[in-house]
Formats: sequence, C-alpha cells, structure tokens
Amino acid sequence: MAQKIVIALPKGGVGKTTVVRNLGEAIAAQGKRVLLIEMDPQGNLTQGFGLRPRRMQHTIYTAMVELVKTFKPAVEKAIITVADNIDLIPANVLLNRANDEFASVMKKETLLQRLLQFVEKDYDVMIGDTLPYLGLLVNNGLAWADEILITLQAEADAVESTALLLEHLKQIETIGLNDQLAISGLLFNQVDVRTRLNRSAMEFAHQVFDSYVHFFDQIIPRAIVYPEARTQHQSIFQYRPNTRFTQVYEELAAAVLAGEKRSSLKGITLEEGFLDKIFEGIEEIEEEEPVASGEA
Ligand SMILES: Nc1ncnc2c1ncn2[C@@H]1O[C@H](COP(=O)(O)OP(=O)(O)OP(=O)(O)O)[C@@H](O)[C@H]1O
Ligand SMILES: [Mg+2]
Repeated sequence: MAQKIVIALPKGGVGKTTVVRNLGEAIAAQGKRVLLIEMDPQGNLTQGFGLRPRRMQHTIYTAMVELVKTFKPAVEKAIITVADNIDLIPANVLLNRANDEFASVMKKETLLQRLLQFVEKDYDVMIGDTLPYLGLLVNNGLAWADEILITLQAEADAVESTALLLEHLKQIETIGLNDQLAISGLLFNQVDVRTRLNRSAMEFAHQVFDSYVHFFDQIIPRAIVYPEARTQHQSIFQYRPNTRFTQVYEELAAAVLAGEKRSSLKGITLEEGFLDKIFEGIEEIEEEEPVASGEA
C-alpha cells in the first residue's frame, strides 16, 4: 500500500509545489517509487520538470473527464516518468474547468481516489500538489489522501490560512468524506530565523496549534537556491547536492516516512470559536509596534 500524502494550504506562494518536488526527490533517492500528482491548474509542478503543461495531451483533468464520461478509471496514459523512481501526472490550465464541469457529478469529491486506486500498487509513496483555494480540487486530494502535510510561511497570514484549513479538515473528517485522514505535520518554509517578524510569527503559530498538531523539527530556510533550482528545472538535489539545503529535505523525508509528527484528525477537537480567537490574536500582533532594529 502506497503512503498517500497531499500538500495543501489555501494561501498562494507558501511553497507547496517546491515541497512536493523536493520531498518527492528525497524519497525517491532512497530507492522508493514515487508518483507526484499535480492538482493545480497553474501547472507549476509540471513546468518544474521542464515540461510544457499546455502541450500535455493527457493530464489529471483528461483522466477525470474520461472517468466521468465512461466510468472507466484510465489514468495510466497520463503518467510520465520524469526522473529516476519518479513519475508524474501533469496538469494544465484546462483543469480550471473541473469546478463547474463536475459540479453536478455524483461523488465528485472522489474522482481522484477512484482514478488512483488502480495505480497505487505501483508506488511506495504518492504526493499530491494542490492549488491555493479550498474547493473541489483540494477536496478531491483530501478525500484520496491518508495524510495532509501543511506547508506554511512564518507569517500571520499563513497562520490564519492554516487555522481555516484545520476547520475544513475537521469537516472533511466529520462528514465522512475521509474519516481516516491524518495530518503529517506542519512545516515552516521560507524562514529566515534572523528576522524578528519570522520568529514572532513562528512563536504565535506554536501557541495556536501546539495543542492540536505537531510541527516538523525541520524548518526550510528562505534561500535563493530553491527558486534558482526551479528556474533550471531541477530539484535542489540536482542543483545543490550535498548541502544543508538538501539535508533539511532528507531529514524531512525521514520524518514523513516514519510518521513522526502524524496526528489523526479523529483525535483533534477544535475549541469553540477557534477561528475567531485566532483572528483576534492576529489583529493584536498586527497592532504591535513594527520593530526596525535587529532585522537582518
Ligand atoms: N525555501 C525557500 N526559499 C526561498 N524561496 C522559496 C523557498 N521555497 C519556495 N520558494 C519560492 O517561492 C515561490 C513560491 O513557491 P511555490 O510555488 O512552491 O509555492 P506554492 O505554495 O506552490 O504556490 P501556489 O499556491 O501558487 O501553488 C517560488 O518562486 C519558489 O521557488
Ligand atoms: Mg504551487
């Protein structure tokens, strides 16, 4: 049985796609067979492998359309081998149609699950990348996955989005769309620990979430090498091998595979007025005097 992970947060640019790519590569380097699934019409993951999304004839979208029309889950033809031990199901802009096109389809949240169940035996780990919006595509990812890894930046806005996502996950579990769903852990990405802003946002995030979920010990630093690698259509393992920038991903991969920080949603009960309290907390932080000194 493959380990099925979805990476999500309803906030743009927090590093979801970068984490999918580099975590996938770190796991594949251990000899495990990895399938990456792009569930984002932006096609950034697909592009990152040097592929042209709009030229892709077979994508996750075409597989979903075929499933809806014929009830046949034929996803194999959309699978491309992109690196050693790594396959990809690409996406392109046409996936934007999914929301409206599948609106009246029965069990529309389980399309991904029904597509992938037949290829699951071919992989050890499957990782889904999603778009920054809580809607049909993300719900498909959440209905399919065993666990969700939440990537966030050390900023108040990301804390707000994470809180919203937690409430959403609780609903997914409660209504039975996926009552086995777990949270792999919360991952800080693009962090510069020298800045007071990042440090205080991390502290706030811990205050808010520690009683419900775990943060990974690994913190991905803000570093130009990550965007540079993407521009070169490479992972960090190709672009800067054997550096602290790869090491943090290797350690993250080990923690994810071991389920070190995993918590089941069943075991999480959000306190009454959870989201409102967080909104209030964020307003207080924002009202604090901006600190000019000590910033890196
Ligand atoms: N650790 C990092 N340090 C610096 N830049 C980073 C880091 N991780 C990712 N980035 C850069 O930040 C930008 C956003 O990252 P990415 O595309 O992975 O975010 P995303 O959450 O997938 O965005 P979207 O919500 O639009 O899908 C990209 O340019 C990426 O190269
Ligand atoms: Mg992305």
